[in-house]
Amino acid sequence: MPKPPFASKSGGSATVVIGNKSIELPISRGTIGPDVVDVRKLYSDGDVFTYDPGFTSTASCESAITYIDGDEGVLLYRGYPIEQLAEHSDFIEVCYLLLHGDLPSADQLKTFRNAITRHTMVHEQISMFFRGFRRDAHPMAVMCGVVGALSAFYHDSTDINDPMQRTIASHRMIAKMPTIAAMAYKYSIGQPFIYPQNNLNYSENFLRMCFAVPAEEHKSNPVLARALDRIFILHADHEQNASTSTVRLAGSSGANPFACIAAGIACLWGPAHGGANEAALKMLEEIGHVSRIPEYVARAKDKNSGFRLMGFGHRVYKNYDPRAKVMQQTCHEVLDELGIRNDPLLQVAMELEKIALNDPYFVEKKLYPNIDFYSGITLKALGFPTSMFTALFALARTVGWIAQWAEMIEDPSQKIGRPRQLYVGAPKRDYVPVHKR
Ligand code: CMC
Repeated sequence: MPKPPFASKSGGSATVVIGNKSIELPISRGTIGPDVVDVRKLYSDGDVFTYDPGFTSTASCESAITYIDGDEGVLLYRGYPIEQLAEHSDFIEVCYLLLHGDLPSADQLKTFRNAITRHTMVHEQISMFFRGFRRDAHPMAVMCGVVGALSAFYHDSTDINDPMQRTIASHRMIAKMPTIAAMAYKYSIGQPFIYPQNNLNYSENFLRMCFAVPAEEHKSNPVLARALDRIFILHADHEQNASTSTVRLAGSSGANPFACIAAGIACLWGPAHGGANEAALKMLEEIGHVSRIPEYVARAKDKNSGFRLMGFGHRVYKNYDPRAKVMQQTCHEVLDELGIRNDPLLQVAMELEKIALNDPYFVEKKLYPNIDFYSGITLKALGFPTSMFTALFALARTVGWIAQWAEMIEDPSQKIGRPRQLYVGAPKRDYVPVHKR
């Protein structure tokens, strides 16, 4: 995988005054987006740390993969707007783009597609590994375990210092994630695992592995497969979000790539992150009818209720999430194709969106629908149970995690991630034997 084509440039300096000491800190400039103040020498020169819980103002790395302008609602993969990729590209081409930095030539794309297609099967013993889980295990619990276990099966792709092994590990994970996610689903409903089929494209193959049964012919629906492919594109990367930062942090210690991706899956599971699509659909089902929307909007505005409108708000987007726009359109396409007219959940979602977008609370706090608002309805219509939603997110995000992990490994300035803290515990004190306490 190539090095980023451009590195940051010097953009002047900032002066920090601590007591009677003045410290000059360099400012670095990227290609677009805010400059950063490089605080690396703050501790050695000033004996202070910066304090930024939740990393709201902290850039943890240089990256050339994904750019978000949260105020304008812009998302670019390697410079290409998400809307253009969703319309013209497909998930495998987007995987190549994220991993390699540029769109592939026809030959490069063919070779890459072939490599991914040829890695979709999992070691046969992995099916026995599945049987150790309870049938009612959440698919994300299964994914964390099985993806972590891949390092026990593929010893020839765990050496992070070998570029060839890193590439093989990347191809394996992109290729096997649909197989593993589909197996998690089949296991939960007690149906036999369906092997991948190489004459199908990535999304058709995944739909078949989820919904085919050995007793019947399975016919893929190109409209639904294309919609799922677009959902994968929308979820493929999102710069330094919680799960990606987790993958980078895990990888910074030199952990093998399968272990790092398993760490990312664990982080993604939380309802404030990838688990929000499941939570958003459950919320829409709970609301049930447009007449109950005002009650839920009032609860979301009441700090003491502990309730938030799931699928609303974002740490970075203070405008409409550009992915949500494409997702809304995809949602309509899927429902039309399936002949689902007047879906009550869609009606609740559209009305809720309208009300929230005009409510001063949401307007002032710049809370807009995010990608998860419409994805739940779409995935439900495609036939997935809510418990699978986050697993699908993990499947699609795997390429982003891998691209970010590889970029970090290839970055000569990479160090083990090791934040500092503001200690507020007891100062040094002497141990007191238990009979004297
Ligand atoms: N409903 C009601 N109020 C909200 C919501 C919401 N969904 N989101 C934020 N707020 C309020 C929050 O109470 C706070 O109010 P105040 O300033 O009065 O204390 C203010 O808006 C800022 O919220 P925050 O929690 O400080 O913002 P954050 O950047 O830390 O959180 C978030 C971002 C996504 C965690 C949050 O908006 C949220 O919990 N949303 C619902 C869960 C969700 O949809 N998550 C999916 C994110 S998109 C998928 C992904 O990329 O993972």
